[in-house]
Amino acid sequence: MTKLSSADYIAKEDKFGAHNYHPLPVVLSKGAGVFVWDVEGKKYFDFLAAYSAVNQGHSHPKIIDALTEQAKTLALTSRAFYNDVLGEWEEYMTKLFGYDKMLPMNSGAEADETALKLIRKWAYKVKGIPTNEAKIVVCDGNFHGRTITIISMSSDPDSYSHYGPYTPGFVNIPYNDLNRLEEELQDPNVAGFLVEPIQAEAGVYVPEDGYLKKASELCKKYNVLFVADEVQTGLARTGKMLACDHENVRPDILVLGKALSGGIYPVSCVLADDEIMLTIKPGEHGSTYGGNPIAGKVAMAALDVIQDEKLVENAERLGKIFREEMLSIDSPLIEIVRGKGLLNAVAIKPTNGKTAWDVCLALKENGLIAKPTHEHIIRFTPPLVITEEQLMEAIEIIKTTLKEFEV
Ligand SMILES: Cc1ncc(COP(=O)(O)O)c(C=O)c1O
Repeated sequence: MTKLSSADYIAKEDKFGAHNYHPLPVVLSKGAGVFVWDVEGKKYFDFLAAYSAVNQGHSHPKIIDALTEQAKTLALTSRAFYNDVLGEWEEYMTKLFGYDKMLPMNSGAEADETALKLIRKWAYKVKGIPTNEAKIVVCDGNFHGRTITIISMSSDPDSYSHYGPYTPGFVNIPYNDLNRLEEELQDPNVAGFLVEPIQAEAGVYVPEDGYLKKASELCKKYNVLFVADEVQTGLARTGKMLACDHENVRPDILVLGKALSGGIYPVSCVLADDEIMLTIKPGEHGSTYGGNPIAGKVAMAALDVIQDEKLVENAERLGKIFREEMLSIDSPLIEIVRGKGLLNAVAIKPTNGKTAWDVCLALKENGLIAKPTHEHIIRFTPPLVITEEQLMEAIEIIKTTLKEFEV
């Protein structure tokens, strides 16, 4: 059999696959730690880390061991029966994050959908909002996934256009605007406020210090659930276990995904206390794969790795270095550097007709892959197992690449 080239693989996807993504033209076939290799054997720093799912580095051996051991033993039971891993995993999660209960799902979108359902059940069964009148406040620029209900909350036309009719019951307000939040919370039919502690997909928008704290206090004041979507910001990415920890905020509902498996398996979950979680009764919500034994073992191993390898501390320390180094670059292309921990973005000023996409193509040639979010922002989110030496090497690649655009 003749070996296919990158161009062959790209042509195959283009011909046989749906065109719902616009990937960087690089075809990966291997990953280990902070590195990935393409089919021609070229090595790259992975500065996307699968949108922060691979916080623990590619194919972390401890997580792979957990996966393979459990796959050989028992992979899937469905929730029609008990299995001997789920309870252990639920205990692990509730103790680590400090909640009464966990509900397991698979993707981030499903976990967000679960959170929305919990808000509505709580609205009717606990808060006493008249049936079908509950409202949920969300922020412009949000990204919570791709289901019809979730895109009904979106302010991004790429996400919602031509998918109507949309799910009603959402109120959009600007991000980082406490006055508007308080105005909306005064409506007695508002049951929840769903927010990303940092809007990652929108371009790594970090709200003002104190925003989350004040927002959660306002929610408490008006008896509204404060719901944090930490699918991307959670699990050490921002230099704390949860981005909400930066302001000592404990969400009423916490949504996790992505790095909950270290990129090894689709695993997500929702955490909440009994008053909220027990509003859903048997048969009222679920998922065939949610809570399967592989997911449980993989998630526990992934969280062990975060703690054992001190990824929170590493993200905090190296994130500071990354931003300092980026800010020290004297390039006409760099407009803004922002972020927390190792969730960072550089806004590129279009120069000589060159965009963030062109910069990403040049970075790829020089051995580092990253992806623009929207037109002019590049998100830099390496695996959190990156060492200082590796980070400095990657920064050199970024510096050299930006220099190439000056001539
Ligand atoms: C904050 C946030 N929530 C939810 C999701 C959706 O997760 P998934 O793609 O696993 O459905 C994402 C994905 O990028 C995200 O960043």
